[in-house]
Amino acid sequence: MIEQKTAIVTGASRGIGHGVAQRLRALDWRVITVSRYPLPKECPWNDEFNTHVELDLSDLDQITKTVDALRPLLGGSKLHALINNAGISPKGASGERVNSLTTDLKVWQEMYNINFYAPLILTRGFAQELSNARGSVVNLCSIAAYRVHPFAGAAYAASKAALAALTREMAADMASLNVRVNAIAPGEINTSILSPGTQTIVDNNIPMRRLGEVSEVVDLIEFLCSPKAAYITGAEIPIDGGQRV
Ligand SMILES: NC(=O)c1ccc[n+]([C@@H]2O[C@H](COP(=O)([O-])OP(=O)(O)OC[C@H]3O[C@@H](n4cnc5c(N)ncnc54)[C@H](OP(=O)(O)O)[C@@H]3O)[C@@H](O)[C@H]2O)c1
Repeated sequence: MIEQKTAIVTGASRGIGHGVAQRLRALDWRVITVSRYPLPKECPWNDEFNTHVELDLSDLDQITKTVDALRPLLGGSKLHALINNAGISPKGASGERVNSLTTDLKVWQEMYNINFYAPLILTRGFAQELSNARGSVVNLCSIAAYRVHPFAGAAYAASKAALAALTREMAADMASLNVRVNAIAPGEINTSILSPGTQTIVDNNIPMRRLGEVSEVVDLIEFLCSPKAAYITGAEIPIDGGQRV
């Protein structure tokens, strides 16, 4: 009998996380999700029992409860993939970049909680279950970690850079457990996280002159979670239509 694989995907109610959950389910994986709110009706798995936990990953107290809340849903099974995807990108009142001088410390802390501490706590919290499956962790980083972005704020960018460094460190620490830890760094992907002015980036800064599609990001995440990526760990793969060149 073929073993059913299990994934935890944070932030699967829309955007990239929703696409990942949908793809893995189509491949017959069991997908367990975490986000702040109940899953919207359009999520085909919104009626499933015991697969979704409502927690706010920008709140450190709630992050520390996440592993204990999710472990019973695993029911003792191995964990084949952990996709640390949940995220928000705080903007100014008119959608503008919020800078390092004026961003409230509370927002800095929230950004580090969701983009750094949540992936750290979840990954090490499920190290044994991931090891049992020779599993794969994929962290959602960002092009904003590498250059000042017109819309992504300073706290968001710095916390994504910290996540890129964490990916490297955890890849080294978890290789002996047979767990691979990788990151992807999207540019501008067509989801609700984008700012209204994104078309100017497409026109001026993306050589391919278009947004990325969720399905294209999902293809990369699926690859990183597959045996085809068996020798890839500690990598951060850009997916940005050439925006970084
Ligand atoms: N789209 C892009 O162009 C782009 C570029 C670079 C990086 N990324 C990264 O890719 C990831 C996914 O982005 P996306 O574009 O798919 O965003 P999205 O469409 O806005 O979806 C974000 C998801 O994260 C969940 N979420 C947000 N805040 C949360 C919190 N505090 N606790 C728990 N869950 C939370 C949301 O669910 P709830 O609202 O129910 O909590 C939602 O399911 C993010 O980490 C983002 O930084 C995206």
